[in-house]
Amino acid sequence: MELNILTLCYLIASVTFIVGLKMLSSPASARKGNLVAAAGMSIAIFATIFLYEENGVKLGNYAWIFVGLIIGTVIGTLAAKKVKMTAMPEMVSLFNGMGGACAALISLVEFNHLAHEMVTTGITAGHTGKILIIVLGLLIGSVSFSGSMIAWGKLNGKVKDFSFAGQNILNLLFLAVALGCAVWLIINPSQTYLLYVIFALSLLYGIMFVMPIGGADMPVVISLLNSFTGVAAAFGGFLYDNKVMLTGGILVGAAGTLLTILMCKAMNRSLKNVLIGSFGGNNVSGGTTGSKEQGNYKEISLSDAAMVMSYANKVIIVPGYGLAVAQAQHACHELEKILNEKGVEVTYAIHPVAGRMPGHMNVLLAEADVPYEKLQEMEQANDEFKSTDVVLILGANDVVNPAAKKDPASPIYGMPILEVEQAKTVIVNKRSMKPGYAGIENDLFFQPKTSMLFGDAKKVLQDLCAEVKAI
Ligand code: TAP
Repeated sequence: MELNILTLCYLIASVTFIVGLKMLSSPASARKGNLVAAAGMSIAIFATIFLYEENGVKLGNYAWIFVGLIIGTVIGTLAAKKVKMTAMPEMVSLFNGMGGACAALISLVEFNHLAHEMVTTGITAGHTGKILIIVLGLLIGSVSFSGSMIAWGKLNGKVKDFSFAGQNILNLLFLAVALGCAVWLIINPSQTYLLYVIFALSLLYGIMFVMPIGGADMPVVISLLNSFTGVAAAFGGFLYDNKVMLTGGILVGAAGTLLTILMCKAMNRSLKNVLIGSFGGNNVSGGTTGSKEQGNYKEISLSDAAMVMSYANKVIIVPGYGLAVAQAQHACHELEKILNEKGVEVTYAIHPVAGRMPGHMNVLLAEADVPYEKLQEMEQANDEFKSTDVVLILGANDVVNPAAKKDPASPIYGMPILEVEQAKTVIVNKRSMKPGYAGIENDLFFQPKTSMLFGDAKKVLQDLCAEVKAI
């Protein structure tokens, strides 16, 4: 009877994971989706603790389990409450690493159980499937753990990029030796030391594989490592014949893989290119960097910018990484409201890879209570620019760079962009003429309909609010 209730609990939890994930695909329902999936996970955890039994014996060890649960809950809650939005990828990486470590530890513990069983029964054959699952869980979980730790260190500035000639070959060698040891262990399960060799090599591989990747490419790598953790957890599900662990692991693995693909696509870069790094982080390249003679750009004064926007019918704001750096989201929403009061229609155009993490601009603007319906996705915005009087670009650069469409030599060529030059007037706010993430010049800044409004986004927006109010 209890087993049936347990199965039902696992079924409910699996359904909540799927529903929760679906709800995460819209900003309006994402928060609820997270809670739905978390509730499902709580059901699965408590059902396992109290209902699971093997040969009529319950789990026991309640003191250990609950002390662990309480410590984890306190650390997780405090970390999530304290984290700044800009440090979110860091936290995701750290938590993801913990998932990988769990999967690796499960493999170590379960192999020791199996080894003990083999010694006591004297039967070493017939465990191929189980050892395969254990070894794969260990390999992938360990890579995910050590790789995520390096990614975390890089994002908080504690670990610097590091690479040397032949690093990729050495990495492949580590992987090949680890896989070779795995095959040997499956053939000779009594060689238990091999498990620790695989563990050490996988940890080393995770470190070496993430070390050379540019810091700003980390969101893509974290998403990839996230999918590794999901797959490792799914192997745990196989091992314990636990359906909810299997479902959860597969969902995380699939979602992480899809997100990695989508991010690469939105940047028009292959995963190989991200992992080996052709631009990004400190690894700036690209034919046009600094070498091209800058044309003439024109500047606009605050009062003129305020005037142009106040008398416009339709303004589209393009937020970018600089808006997040300046933490100017509240000032931006304030300007939007003041313009609205003057009868100006204001919306936001969101590029899928604006900022430095998936959904960065959505989260940033949601922090300032900008209504979701004011946010337009790239395709929709590109249809709207033609009928727009003023586009106000706030700390965005690569996502509006026409070189992506026009210059086959550009490293961002082929990346879909916000086609702002179709609007009547373009005002660009940034602090200087310096390039953005891709390290390349932006011809948009030199076009006749573009005017530069230099300064920190927060200060400029606050001053603009005062100017527009005064008109
Ligand atoms: P970027 O191209 O990086 O440009 C940001 C601009 O903001 C810079 O040119 C900078 O110019 C300006 N800026 C910085 N601080 C500012 C401040 N306080 N006030 C005003 N302006 C400021 O940003 P983007 O257009 O959002 O493009 C994102 C880039 O990141 C893309 O290349 C994308 O491929 C890449 N990327 C994205 C992700 C995800 S998932 N979103 C992940 C990895 C990489 P100044 O220094 O002159 O002020």
